[in-house]
Formats: sequence, C-alpha cells, structure tokens
Amino acid sequence: MQVTMIGAGYVGLVSGACFADFGHHVTCIDKDAGRIAALRRGHIPIFEPGLVDLVETNTRQGRLEFAMEPTGIGDADAVFIAVGTPSRRGDGHADLTYIYGVVREIAPLLSPTAIVVTKSTVPIGTGDEIERILREERPDAEMQVVSNPEFLREGAAIYDFKHPDRIVVGSDDARARAVVAEVYRPLYLNAAPILNVSRRTAELIKYAANAFLATKITFINEIADLCECVGADVQDVARGMGLDNRIGAKFLHAGPGFGGSCLPKDTTALIKTAHDYGAQLRIVETVAAVNDQRKRAMARKVVAALDGSIRGRTIAVLGLTFKPNTDDTRDSPSIPLITALNDLGAVVRSYDPAGMEQAKPHLPNVIYCDSAYAAAEGADAVVIATEWEQFRALDLERLRRIMARPVIVDLRNIYRADEMQRANFRYLAVGRPDVEHSPTPPAANRQKSKRPAAVE
Ligand SMILES: NC(=O)c1ccc[n+]([C@@H]2O[C@H](COP(=O)([O-])OP(=O)(O)OC[C@H]3O[C@@H](n4cnc5c(N)ncnc54)[C@H](O)[C@@H]3O)[C@@H](O)[C@H]2O)c1
Repeated sequence: MQVTMIGAGYVGLVSGACFADFGHHVTCIDKDAGRIAALRRGHIPIFEPGLVDLVETNTRQGRLEFAMEPTGIGDADAVFIAVGTPSRRGDGHADLTYIYGVVREIAPLLSPTAIVVTKSTVPIGTGDEIERILREERPDAEMQVVSNPEFLREGAAIYDFKHPDRIVVGSDDARARAVVAEVYRPLYLNAAPILNVSRRTAELIKYAANAFLATKITFINEIADLCECVGADVQDVARGMGLDNRIGAKFLHAGPGFGGSCLPKDTTALIKTAHDYGAQLRIVETVAAVNDQRKRAMARKVVAALDGSIRGRTIAVLGLTFKPNTDDTRDSPSIPLITALNDLGAVVRSYDPAGMEQAKPHLPNVIYCDSAYAAAEGADAVVIATEWEQFRALDLERLRRIMARPVIVDLRNIYRADEMQRANFRYLAVGRPDVEHSPTPPAANRQKSKRPAAVE
C-alpha cells in the first residue's frame, strides 16, 4: 500500500518506519527542512532505541522516503496526520493550528476517495472539523476521516508500535475501516485486536487512557507522601496493590510527578473539553493540580536532605529527560525541580545521557557535565531525577570520595536502603524511610561496641 505520514516527529517517524517495515511504501513529510535533510542523509533527529537501524533498512530497501512537500499525496491509500498538538498558550486547550494547517494544505492534493487518518492526539470533535474543512475545500469528493490514536511510549516506541495492546479505529465507514485494517494487517495477523468504534469515541479513548494513567501515578505519589508520614514503604505498598489483577502493577511507581510530551498536556486538554461541554471531571482536575505542585515541591526534599538550606550549595541533578531512553525533555519534572533549586540559591550541575541539548534553552543556569561523576564532583547532594540504566549502578565509593557531602536524593527509588546504609550515605527516597549517614564509619562502630560497657 502507499502510505503518507505527515509529521516526522516521535510518533510520525516511528509509525512511518514501522509501516514501511510491514512492507508498505511510506513517504514521511515534514515542514522542518533541517529534519528532512538530516533524515535523507541517514541521520535520525530524535533519540529512540532501534530507530536508526529501522529507518536505514527501510530507506535502503526503497520503502521509506522523506519529503518536505506533500506532492505525490494523491496516490496514497491512506494519509496519516501525526503533527504536534501542544497545549495552547494561555488556556491549556490543545493547539490545533498544525492539524488544520495540514488539512487545508493537503485538501486540494488528495485523491477524491482519500482516507485521512488522524494519529495525533486531538480533542473530541476534531475529526468532524477536519471533515468539514475537506467538504468545504472539495465539495464533490468522497473522502473519509478516521481517528486512529497512537499509544506508543517514547523509549520503547518501536516495540510498542509493533506489539500494541489494541488498535483503535474510529470511523463509521466500512471502506475507511477496511483500508486502515489493511495498513495494520501484519499486526492484526499477530492477534492485536482492532477496536472499531465511532470517531468521537476513538478520540475520547486516547484522552481517557492518558488521564487514567496520570491518575494512577498521582494516586501512588500521594500514597508515597503518606508512607513518609507513617513510616511505611511505598514500593511494598505498590507491590501489594499491583499483584491484585484488578489493579495491575504498572504506573504505580512513586516519583517526582508525571511529565513528558503527553500526560500533562492531554489531562489539561481533556479538562478543557469537559468544561466546554459543561461536564465535570473533578478527579482529573485534582490529578492535574496535585501533579503541578509536586514537581517543584521535590526541591523541598533536597532542602531537607541538606538540613534546611541549599543557598550556595552545589547540587548534582542526574537526568533531565522525563523518562529514560529518550531525548525528550518536554514537561520533564527535572525542569521545575532545577528551577526551584536555582531559585533557592543552589548551584546546579547536571548530566543526562541524551537530553542536555534539549534542556539548555529551559535551564540556562546549569553547569552541564559529561558524566554522572563529573556532575557529582564537589556536590553537596546528588539528586537522581531520571531512572536511566547507567544511574542504577553508580560506584558509590567513588561518589563518596568526589562529593563534598555523602547525600543522595533518589526521586526514582532505584536504590535499596541497605546498599546506601553500607556505603554510608544519607539517603532520601520517595515514600520510603530515610537512611542516615553515620559520621563514624560502620566498621569503627562495630569496634566501639565490642568495648566493655564500663569503659564507655
Ligand atoms: N510523543 C509521544 O510519545 C506520543 C505518543 C502518543 C501520541 N502522541 C501524539 O502524537 C502527536 C505528535 O506528537 P510527537 O511527539 O510526534 O510530536 P513532534 O513535535 O515530535 O513531531 C511533530 C512533527 O510535525 C511536524 N509538522 C508540524 N506541522 C507540519 C506540517 N504542516 N506539515 C508537515 N509536518 C509538520 C513538525 O515539524 C514535527 O517534526 C501529538 O498529538 C501527540 O500528542 C505522542
């Protein structure tokens, strides 16, 4: 089949490359000249594991092409739209400028029977508006507009795209459903269920799913706060909850609050949609508010770890991306955290394996370092903000030697209390008991306790 993918970002590029890998002929179109030039040179402008090989193989085999202009789009069996739908500045509604811009641009070029598929996350009713624009521009055409929201996770995007839990297809038109089913046929053969629903239902499924995931994260974060008050361990609580199949273990990891390019903007946009329709989503409203406060509040944990003041102190923040295995720093919890640390007078040094260039415009007052150890040099505390694999097994002895004080604040709960105790760090995590640093090393303590009580 001939597939056109408009927007070659995280979703468009991964989806386009995977469709090409299924055997379709795919043209990825993007307005960003630099991005298209890079892709044509074989350079992948985003960090996503496995994507370099996937793009290279399919380009070499002639199934994947890149272009800036949607010329040739008239031959496509399906035209996917995967451009950004960021939060609109000022009111939090999804900004649909890019979506409608694309639709107006491609309308005159589409075949009269084109199937236009919205893969971007768009508010309920956007498909209706796209259809209206197409009818206005091409009154005689028989085009169909389908909603096909994407659920991939950055960092595991190729696996997710090729092993979806479900493929949601929103359309009441049999021909449109058949075309989209054919595009996804290899997955369908692997038994990924296709959920045929109405277009508005498909649009809402995506938002409802993201709002629910955000709720799960926020719920466990609040339970973590309670754990800190009552001396319980949130990881054990989460495990005890998650083993119940009705609840499930995923998205029950306490941390610094959800971030990224989707959950924050999508929860806000869903709330706005509900307001427009006079419906109330009080749970989602609370989730968004609680999460907003949480990210900056994480700075208080760092202040507590340094006995009440961080003015003039040096803090090493490890991790700037909102999750590991991506270079995406959009709405990353590290950004408000570091801003708060700067506001409180701390000097911040930081290292991230992939996200430093993206973070720089948002965080100008940071000393960027080329390794975790370089960031920790002379630091009064190390804060683990993203659970990159390489931060999971830091050489604690080495860290203690190079840091000014042995203090670790683990916002991702990736270390065990006993290893921190052995390494003699002051260790604060999220929703778990603190570990105190002992001024006398553990070995000396043991010696001391062997002395007769009377001598003591
Ligand atoms: N990133 C994710 O993990 C994820 C997951 C599921 C759904 N989504 C949704 O998918 C959509 C895309 O997200 P993304 O993260 O890939 O965005 P992105 O910002 O990485 O990519 C969007 C691309 O669209 C291009 N573009 C904008 N206007 C264009 C036009 N008129 N013609 C051609 N190209 C144009 C931009 O240059 C950019 O390269 C959003 O609606 C998002 O909510 C994202």
